[in-house]
Amino acid sequence: MEIKSGVYAVGAVDSKIRMFHGYQTPIGTTYNSYLIVDEQITLIDFVKAPFAQTLLSNIRAVIGGRRIDHLICNHAEPDHSGALPDVLKAYPAAKVYGTANCQKALAAYYPEAEMDFQAVKAGETLHVGQNTLTFIPMPMVHWPDSMATYLAEQKILFSNDALGQHIGTGQVFDSELPLEALLDRAGDYYANIVLPYGSQTMKALEAAEPLAIETIAPSHGVIWTKHIPEILERYARWGNNETDEKAVIVYDSMYHSTEHIANALTEGFVRAGVPVRPVDLKTRHISDILLDVLEAKYICVGSPTLNNQIMPSVASFLTYLKGLSPKNRTGIAFGSYGWSGEAVPNITERLKQLRMKLPLEGLRINFKPSPSELNEALEFGKKFAKILKG
Ligand code: FEO
Repeated sequence: MEIKSGVYAVGAVDSKIRMFHGYQTPIGTTYNSYLIVDEQITLIDFVKAPFAQTLLSNIRAVIGGRRIDHLICNHAEPDHSGALPDVLKAYPAAKVYGTANCQKALAAYYPEAEMDFQAVKAGETLHVGQNTLTFIPMPMVHWPDSMATYLAEQKILFSNDALGQHIGTGQVFDSELPLEALLDRAGDYYANIVLPYGSQTMKALEAAEPLAIETIAPSHGVIWTKHIPEILERYARWGNNETDEKAVIVYDSMYHSTEHIANALTEGFVRAGVPVRPVDLKTRHISDILLDVLEAKYICVGSPTLNNQIMPSVASFLTYLKGLSPKNRTGIAFGSYGWSGEAVPNITERLKQLRMKLPLEGLRINFKPSPSELNEALEFGKKFAKILKG
C-alpha cells in the first residue's frame, strides 16, 4: 500500500501471535517495513523471519524486477531483522545501514549473511534521488542499537519500536481506530517495552522536535497521521514518569483472605475519592496489568504467605515490574498468613528495591480477616489514600 508518494508499506500482519517474549498480545501485531521508490530504492526495516516471503512478495508487487539499493536496519531485534538474510539473498548488491551497535548485533545473529554494512551516526544523510534520509540514533529506546530514520521531503519519521503498538487487526492508519482504544494499545506497548527507558525516550523526542513531521511510521501497529499531537503528548507524559492520583491493587489469594483485604482496601480508596483498579492475578496476565500501572501513582501488592514465601504469581508480577522499573510510585504490601507470615515483609523488600515510597507498614492479617479487621483494612486504605493525597 502506498502511504505517501513513492513510500509503500510492505510489511506483514501477524494476527495470530498472542505472546511476544512474555508480553501478551491479545490482538496480534504487525512487523512494518517501508519501501521508498526513488531513483534509488530503499527498504526500511524488515519483518520477523517466518514472514520473509510475504515481505519479498510485497516488495515485488511494487518494484517488480528492479533492485533494492539500500537496506536501513533501524533495530536488530529479530522481529525486525529476521528476514534480513532472505532480503540480502534476493538483493545481494544492497548496502545495509544502521548504528555501530546494530552492526554488532546483526553479525552475532546472522554470521552466515554476507552484508556490506555502513555504520551511521546522528545526523548523517543518505540521498536516494529526490528524497533524503537522515539517521537519528535513539540508544536504549529500547536497545543500544535502536535508531529512527527521517525522510524530510515527505515529512515522515520512521520511528521503529518507538510510538508502536501491538495491533494486528488489519488497520494501517491511526484514523481507522477509536482514539482512546488506540492510545490504550500504545500505552500497553510503552508500559511493557519502553517503560524502563523514560529519560532516553525524552532525549529521542527532543531530537525529533525540530523536525517537520506529518507521518510517524513505527515498526509495529498503525501509522500516525491524524493523532500525532495526542501520541507525542502521551509519550512526553510517560517518558517523564508522570502519574495520576489512581491506585492499582494487585494480589493473589488462596482461600479469599487476601482477596477480602484487597476488597476492603479498594473500598477505602473509593471512599477517599481515589480511583482504584483491583486486579486478581488469577484473572489477568502480568503484562496486561502494566497499562493500569503506567499511570497509577499507587501500587498495592498483596499475597498470602505460602511455604514462607509469596505466591509464585505475585513473585512473577514483581519480577516483571522490577525489570520495567516504574518510577515515582508509592507502594504498600498486604496479605494474610497462618503462622510464619513472611509474605508482607517479602513484598515490602521488593517494593523498596523498586525505590517506591512506603509511607505505612504493610498490612498483615492472621488467617481469615474478622469483620473488625476488614474494617481496619478499609480504614487502612482510606488512611493510605489520605496520606497520599495529603
Ligand atoms: Fe519490535 Fe525491539 O523489537
